[in-house]
Amino acid sequence: MNSLANKNVLLGVTGGIAAYKSAEIVRHLKKSGSSVRVVMTESAKEFITPLTLQALSGNRVSSELLDAEAEAAMGHIELAKWADGILIAPTTANSLARLASGRADDLLSSITLAFDGPISLAPAMNQAMWSDKRTQENLDSLISKGFKVCGPGSGEQACGDIGLGRMLEPIEILELFSSSFTQGAMSGKNVLITAGPTQEPIDPVRFITNKSSGKMGYSLAEAAIESGARVTLISGPVNLETPPNCHKVSVETAKEMHEAVMHHIKGKDVYIGTAAVSDYSPVEVKNSKIKKDGSRSPLNLKLKENHDILKSVSGLEERPYVVGFAAETDGLIENAENKLKNKGLDLIVANDVSNEEIGFESDENEVTLITKTDQQLIPRQSKKKISKKIVEFISRRINEQNN
Ligand SMILES: Cc1cc2nc3c(=O)[nH]c(=O)nc-3n(C[C@H](O)[C@H](O)[C@H](O)COP(=O)(O)O)c2cc1C
Repeated sequence: MNSLANKNVLLGVTGGIAAYKSAEIVRHLKKSGSSVRVVMTESAKEFITPLTLQALSGNRVSSELLDAEAEAAMGHIELAKWADGILIAPTTANSLARLASGRADDLLSSITLAFDGPISLAPAMNQAMWSDKRTQENLDSLISKGFKVCGPGSGEQACGDIGLGRMLEPIEILELFSSSFTQGAMSGKNVLITAGPTQEPIDPVRFITNKSSGKMGYSLAEAAIESGARVTLISGPVNLETPPNCHKVSVETAKEMHEAVMHHIKGKDVYIGTAAVSDYSPVEVKNSKIKKDGSRSPLNLKLKENHDILKSVSGLEERPYVVGFAAETDGLIENAENKLKNKGLDLIVANDVSNEEIGFESDENEVTLITKTDQQLIPRQSKKKISKKIVEFISRRINEQNN
């Protein structure tokens, strides 16, 4: 937590039961060498006294938006200018909603609007409030705007429920918060990743799909986030947990994936297409289940070609750095090189899916990175390690391009 030394940290405290832990957060921040100013919501003052936080931080605690004592009577602007980073711990469901809607009806929310540095949130609430769709939508919207979310954790709650929603321990929150001040190789970059298979419906109960597990795309999303990128992950149906601080968009069909990519591509620095998008989909989707007719004659399924998402992205006028994946069963390098050229990619990651030990569902992979000018083998290792190396390779390339 060295990166917290000499930082001006504004700690927002909102009205949840975990507010008592904010005293410990202030203590840790001070010990790490930060200057701390605390801003409380009105409800927070019912849970912990401003006097406690004033004594620990050594600074007056603020909570009034209309504060005649603040210099120029504009405390929200002064505090936003003073802070290097904002941590809101705990963040209630109510405050999440207020921040997501961009309201400025109290001091803390006004400061977040006037502030343009890193903001971290440590949500804390009952498990049902946490899993409510509206809370999740608010969270997603905040992540997509660059807010960083620390936790929550799982376990027994103050109300007796068990589940996800407990605030992380102060030390865990501060470790995550402190990473806002360290510069990763992808710091400030916007990355769009597709992952998983698509499902092309034939009738209400059947579809055409493939064996993609989504593991490679999800671990690339995690690696890019760890190196400081803001990641949007467009995913087909998979059985994987969404990486923390990732803006995920769920789709099913190739058409939906194409639409979602074209909708989210604006302003992205990097596009990584790991999804195994179906090349074809049925021309006609039956409204009711197709039944056997007993004749044993072949059933013909007419297919139409889907949009080529990689080509659509690489053909954009303002295009990001475009990365494709070539999952091949034979002629790996030759096919990958052709794909690089035909689809106008900057980088292609070639992997041999005929080998089950490094194929779609495996946790390991071996890949070759191919650009117009060079080739680099990343030997067999976990998809997590491979992802880190791919992200390092991409960040080197885009940083070279920008210099
Ligand atoms: C005893 C008690 C405990 C509460 N704990 C939480 C909590 O942990 N998380 C939460 O989101 N809301 C909690 N609430 C509800 C909030 O206090 C309420 O939504 C309030 O409006 C939050 O205001 P604020 O976000 O402006 O601080 C609790 C309420 C009470 C009465």
